[in-house]
Amino acid sequence: MGVMTSRVLEQIHAALGTVNDPEIRRPITELNMVDSVVIDDAGNVAVTVLLTVSGCPLKDKITRDVTAAVESVPGVSSVDLTLGVMNPEQRSGLQEVLRGGQTQREIPFSRPDSLTKIYAIASGKGGVGKSSVTVNLAIAMANQGLKVGIVDADIYGHSVPAMLGVGDVRPTQVEDMIMPVPTRGGISVISIGMLKPRRDQVVAWRGPMLDRALVQMLSDVYWGDIDALFLDLPPGTGDIAISLGQHLPNAEVLVVTTPQEAAAEVAERAGTMASMMNQRVVGVVENMSFLPCPHCGPEHRLEVFGSGGGARVAATLSSRFGYDVPVLGEIPLDLELRAGGDTGTPIVEAAPQSPAARQLDKIAATLSGRGRGLAGMQLGLTPAGRF
Ligand SMILES: Nc1ncnc2c1ncn2[C@@H]1O[C@H](COP(=O)(O)OP(=O)(O)OP(=O)(O)O)[C@@H](O)[C@H]1O
Ligand SMILES: [Mg+2]
Ligand SMILES: [Zn+2]
Repeated sequence: MGVMTSRVLEQIHAALGTVNDPEIRRPITELNMVDSVVIDDAGNVAVTVLLTVSGCPLKDKITRDVTAAVESVPGVSSVDLTLGVMNPEQRSGLQEVLRGGQTQREIPFSRPDSLTKIYAIASGKGGVGKSSVTVNLAIAMANQGLKVGIVDADIYGHSVPAMLGVGDVRPTQVEDMIMPVPTRGGISVISIGMLKPRRDQVVAWRGPMLDRALVQMLSDVYWGDIDALFLDLPPGTGDIAISLGQHLPNAEVLVVTTPQEAAAEVAERAGTMASMMNQRVVGVVENMSFLPCPHCGPEHRLEVFGSGGGARVAATLSSRFGYDVPVLGEIPLDLELRAGGDTGTPIVEAAPQSPAARQLDKIAATLSGRGRGLAGMQLGLTPAGRF
């Protein structure tokens, strides 16, 4: 092999180092996915890339990215890409790379040096917009340049994947490690619904089984180095809230409520539950706050669901906990918000200038503006005996 071709080979390897596996989001070279690169004197290149699993849903993207990267190297005249599949040994090798040499499974976010901020989205009642708030806040944060993941832990609904347009996608599994599903804005998502053996299966998630599922979504899923993780919780104060409190006491809780009295009261209970589990309640989001008057414009608020619920929950929780629990935003009723949830295009993307999207952006900015890693710190307040 001439000096020229070995130089081109080096550049090809460098170019392949810029291609990320779309699920794992790390260079394919680091993941030992590049099996071989062969070049002849005429600059024809044959590359073999090993996929983690044979049915890899993202092989088209890998094909495009690898081909484009190699083609961009001067001296390359053609690229012939072969996709292979890792054998079991290669897969356990990959698993080890991903675990950073660690063999034991653990929840990376509960390590004291974890910099990932955890936001649990809670509500008292169902249907108040928890999942809509979760996906839109996640996208808003991703738009700010943060790496974001979502755990859909709602055992009743698991609607998050559909809201992000990946309702039918199953996660890739590498040995006993699960790859989260990549979606818009580079967000990774895993849903408790994806852990069922079959989609149409009905699982009665309860107690220990639910706890195992939550731990699996936190420890067996390869999240990588994410800045923020959102958890869409089931409504109310059930098993999952307790499990979460036990496994991730550093999670910060966002309470979503609608404006009416009855909703506010149960929302307060959900907030109190979080506090009992030593989690900090960072704020209240009032959703479906009002309908902007179709005649006069947004200054005239039609209070379809009453008013004051968010402020009431915030005031009650503040006095109960002894620290400020602010109202982080009031999201108006918006037809596009609902439509976006149905079609898989959340409103912060579909109509970023709408009042609803702006509120969501503002809430995301408030949360992330408080600095990465800060929130995990315990405040030295114990909730015991305060209610
Ligand atoms: N501000 C809003 N304006 C209009 N529609 C909304 C708004 N917020 C939520 N919706 C719609 O209300 C319905 C319920 O919202 P969503 O699924 O987000 O609530 P949830 O609290 O997660 O419900 P569940 O308890 O069923 O999981 C959805 O159809 C959603 O599109
Ligand atoms: Mg939901
Ligand atoms: Zn009016």
